Parts: sequence; C-alpha cells; structure tokens
Amino acid sequence: MAEESRLTLSVIKADIGGFVGHVSSHPDILDTAKDKLNHAKENGTIVDFHVLRCGDDLELILTHTKGCDNTEIHELAWNVFSVCTEVAKELKLYGAGQDILSDAFSGNIKGMGPGVAEMEFVERKSEPVVIFMADKTSPGAWNLPIYRIFADPFNTAGLIIDPKMCDGFSFRVLDVKEGRCITLSCPEEMHYLLALIGTSSRYIISSVYRKTDGEIAAVMSTQKLSFIAGKYVGKDDPVAVIRCQSGFPAVGEVMEPFSFPHLVEGWMRGSHSGPLMPVPFYEANPTRFDGPPRVISAGFQISNGRLIGPHDMFDDPSFDSTRRIANDISEYMRRHGPFQPHRLPEEELEYTTLPLVLEKLKDRFQKV
Ligand code: 13P
Ligand code: 13P
Ligand code: MG
Ligand code: MG
Repeated sequence: MAEESRLTLSVIKADIGGFVGHVSSHPDILDTAKDKLNHAKENGTIVDFHVLRCGDDLELILTHTKGCDNTEIHELAWNVFSVCTEVAKELKLYGAGQDILSDAFSGNIKGMGPGVAEMEFVERKSEPVVIFMADKTSPGAWNLPIYRIFADPFNTAGLIIDPKMCDGFSFRVLDVKEGRCITLSCPEEMHYLLALIGTSSRYIISSVYRKTDGEIAAVMSTQKLSFIAGKYVGKDDPVAVIRCQSGFPAVGEVMEPFSFPHLVEGWMRGSHSGPLMPVPFYEANPTRFDGPPRVISAGFQISNGRLIGPHDMFDDPSFDSTRRIANDISEYMRRHGPFQPHRLPEEELEYTTLPLVLEKLKDRFQKV
C-alpha cells in the first residue's frame, strides 16, 4: 500500500447465533469467518482482518482501500455472516441468523441487520486505534464514554495540554427516532450536546471530528434493529472505533471513562437497565440474567494497513474495582425484579413481546 493512500477501517458485526442461548459464540463460527476472510485477504479484497466475538456477537475487523460504504466490502461481510449462519443452523445455535434480517444482499449492509462502524484516513507515522465491542446493550451506551473522552477535560488531560486538541471536537448526533442528524461543537455547545445525548435511547453520537483540521477521530455503529425489523429481535449490540495519540486522546484517556460502570439499556431480553462491565476477551460471556452488559476493547497499531494486535485492553487489574462495582450494582438493580428503573419504561419495550401481554388485559379495564 502506498504511504499516502487512504486506508479504510471497517468494523462490521452481527449476532448470527448464540452458544449457549445468547451467552457466547461457537468456535466453529469464528473459524468459518476466519477462513472466509483469509480467502478475501489472499485475493486482495482486503488488506488485513481480525475476527473477535463479544458475547454472542461476531465482530469482523477489516482494513482495505475501498472507502466507507463500499459494496464489495459490505457484500464480503454479508457473505461471511451468511456462511456462519449456515454453520449456526447446522449446530442449531440459538437465534441462528438473528441479525440477518434480509434474504439477499442489496448493495449496502446498513439497514439489513448487522452493525457497521467505518472510517477512512491517511495512516499516520504511528496509528494506534482502540475498538470497543459490547454485548447486551445498544449504541446509546457509547454516549457517556465518548462525551468524556472528547469533551471532558477532567477525563482527557490532552484537551487542555495538547494544542491540537484545545479547540475541541465536533460530534455528529443521530436522532434514531426521526431519522435526522445534527452536528454540535464542543466546548461551545457542550450543554446542547448533553441536552440531547443524555436521552441515549434516541440521540446517539455517530462520529467525532477534531476541529483544528476536521480529522475523523471516532465512529460508532448506530443501527437500531427493532426499527428495521419492526419487532424485538435482540439488542443492537454496538461497536466503536477510536483513533488515539498525537493530537487525539491518548490510549489511557480513551480507556479511562470505562472505569465507571455506567447504567446502559439491554441485559435480559434487551429490556433492562444495568451496568456496563469492562472485561477481557475471555470474560465476555454474560450469563447472569444474560448479563450484566459487557464491553471488550481491542487495541491495534496499524502498519501499512496491517492490524498489529489485538491487545486485550481490559485485561488489566486496574479495572478489577470497576468489575466489582458493576457486580454490586447488578445485585442492587436485580433486586428490583420487574420494577422500573431496572426494567425499562414502556416506550422502550414497544418492540418487545410486552405489548402482547398487555393486549390480553385490554378488555378488562373499566372507566373510573
Ligand atoms: P502524544 O501527544 O504523543 O500522543 O502523547 C501523549 C501521551 O502519550 C501521554 O500519555
Ligand atoms: P442479544 O441481543 O445479545 O442476542 O441478546 C438478546 C437477549 O434477549 C438476551 O436476553
Ligand atoms: Mg443473541
Ligand atoms: Mg448479542
């Protein structure tokens, strides 16, 4: 790859079947995905790849030179998910093909079920990136940590120490309910930004740019499965990609907000609020009440498109107390059983099977 050419980093993910239930993925699925992508690497479609899983979600990390929203790359991911679904069906894994909401590929994988986060950039002299992948939650889960990484100087010292970051960052926010977006600039519009993104089920940060030169800093997947399928088919377990160092937040500044296990939507049946627990790869198996929600983090140095890594970023005892607190919070939240705010409000459950239960009572209500 020529030194100044633009590289695309695409993270495309889908739940194509769980082992056991919604807890994890089966090794045969990961092997199948690796085989297929190896082939694509050999024939030059992609430069490099890495396959991971978080809970029951299959994560394809790809580098290539074809740009974002590229049909060939999206079709490749679609084909990987399709063959993996065949394996999942063969093993009768749970919810085989869960996120594959369409029968045939139609040009762009967005809107067809899988989650997508892609960015294109000229590779720097050194290009550290950190990829976050979560299970049993939804894209709004990134709002709080992304805000803290790119707008909060109490988290990111670089916002006041590094001249390239002092002007701040701009945030593209998606209103998933109305299908519109807005860009807000920090620090000037911080209060407006927070006024929106605190409603994390509706307003979702989709990308972040450095204001000094407009460079892309972060991208998040924002797909809402229920809006595509019209019913609950599993949560929209999200991914986020963040560039680090030399004018972007340092790796440690990117990791820091995850030391607070904030409450996110998801957990059992995608219908509960619970703490986001940062875990090493091997602990991303949510079994307690299908949770609590997990996040893993893979760090890479990119070298001429090659993915050098991953480093398992949460495999660090400095996150032990976060995990302990997340367990304490889980215990506290679970004691609420079916009561809010552990169980999500009714509006958030409109795509689940709850309305069918309420339907059964509708004729028994009397006017007061
Ligand atoms: P850079 O500005 O070179 O990224 O250095 C910041 C740093 O690594 C401090 O932790
Ligand atoms: P997933 O979205 O990870 O498949 O989980 C679905 C669920 O309902 C867990 O209880
Ligand atoms: Mg699942
Ligand atoms: Mg999942």
